[in-house]
Amino acid sequence: MSGVLSGTRDSMNPLRQLTIDQLRERTSLKWREYPDDVLPLWVAEMDVPLAEPVVRAVTDALARGDTGYPAGTAYPQALAEFARRRWGWDGLAVQRTALVPDVMHGVVEALRLVTGPGDAVVVNCPVYPPFYEFVGHAGRRIVEAPLGADLRLDLGALEEAFHRARAGGRPAAYLLCSPHNPTGVLHTADELAAVASLAGRHGVRVVADEIHAPVVVGGERFVPYLSVPGAENGLSLMSASKGWNLAGLRAALLIAGPAAAADLARVPFEASVSTSHIGVIAHTAAFRDGEEWLDALVAGLDDNRRLLAALLGEHLPAIGYQPGQATYLAWLDCRPLGLGDDPAAVFLDSGRVALNPGSAFGTGGGGHVRLNLATAPEVIAEAVSRMASAVTG
Ligand SMILES: Cc1ncc(COP(=O)(O)O)c(C=O)c1O
Repeated sequence: MSGVLSGTRDSMNPLRQLTIDQLRERTSLKWREYPDDVLPLWVAEMDVPLAEPVVRAVTDALARGDTGYPAGTAYPQALAEFARRRWGWDGLAVQRTALVPDVMHGVVEALRLVTGPGDAVVVNCPVYPPFYEFVGHAGRRIVEAPLGADLRLDLGALEEAFHRARAGGRPAAYLLCSPHNPTGVLHTADELAAVASLAGRHGVRVVADEIHAPVVVGGERFVPYLSVPGAENGLSLMSASKGWNLAGLRAALLIAGPAAAADLARVPFEASVSTSHIGVIAHTAAFRDGEEWLDALVAGLDDNRRLLAALLGEHLPAIGYQPGQATYLAWLDCRPLGLGDDPAAVFLDSGRVALNPGSAFGTGGGGHVRLNLATAPEVIAEAVSRMASAVTG
């Protein structure tokens, strides 16, 4: 395996810094849900120490007693500059952003701006399970547009879903996951422009969840939805939560295209003021000063996805895996193993590895599992070995 791992400077790789014993001391969901004999490769938390600039910004704030309500525009400014440097996009206007408590609450606020109760929200299944739960909780109705067999956006399915969503002339939204969770697919500029054009023709408003945007591997470049032609009335959600493992320090941004500025002005005051000031400080530091750390992370994730492909090829060749260019998630098609609709249950019961059951991701998810690659290579190797033993008995 050493050939697979060459190229990463191990001392810089955030995924190689912590031991399993150190990780088991964590009190967050990933490490607390299952007993100690289970390897947890499920919920989207990363097994990394925090980036030093984030630690410094938060500890300095705590030392100052700076734990009041959020103020100012440092967060959107830091993101706008990051977007310019990293994605070559200079269209993020600070005045067209609103602070929201986290990405999913921001998604709900955005959907409330562009749809009413009972209106349809189109999603590309299989997709991040809370899309279903939060949309339902917000009183909107899910319309599924399945991904294609190649796991990419299927414009025909999307058009058909837009038709159904707009039946009776009701407003409708499209909740785009970009990059896509769970497949790790990075949408291209052409795909996103085609989406914008289709949405424009059908009068569907696009809300893009771009939380995974910083985590792009293999030298590809993320394309912000709002940067493509035709996306002027779109809305986007971004944060440093996935890129720098800040889910416990919540703070996100709702970003409007030029033709959605009036909608953004209707975001209620409660949403912005409910955001954590310490969260804002952490996310600002990540976008402003955390790029070197992110580069080391992304290099480690690139190694991990190639390691996983090699290990599956060797020990579980029946599993289908197309390494994605983004996110730290791997979507595994276990149907050829004949383990039924819920292979995650088999891997947990017989292999003591916790993965996300694919069926939670909507239509097309059955027979799949989602594996979290943001861990040490040794953990991935141990997980695949356990999964193989679970299957061969
Ligand atoms: C696509 C997607 N959106 C949103 C979230 C959650 O974001 P937040 O914790 O900021 O609500 C996740 C977490 O994994 C995610 O994968």
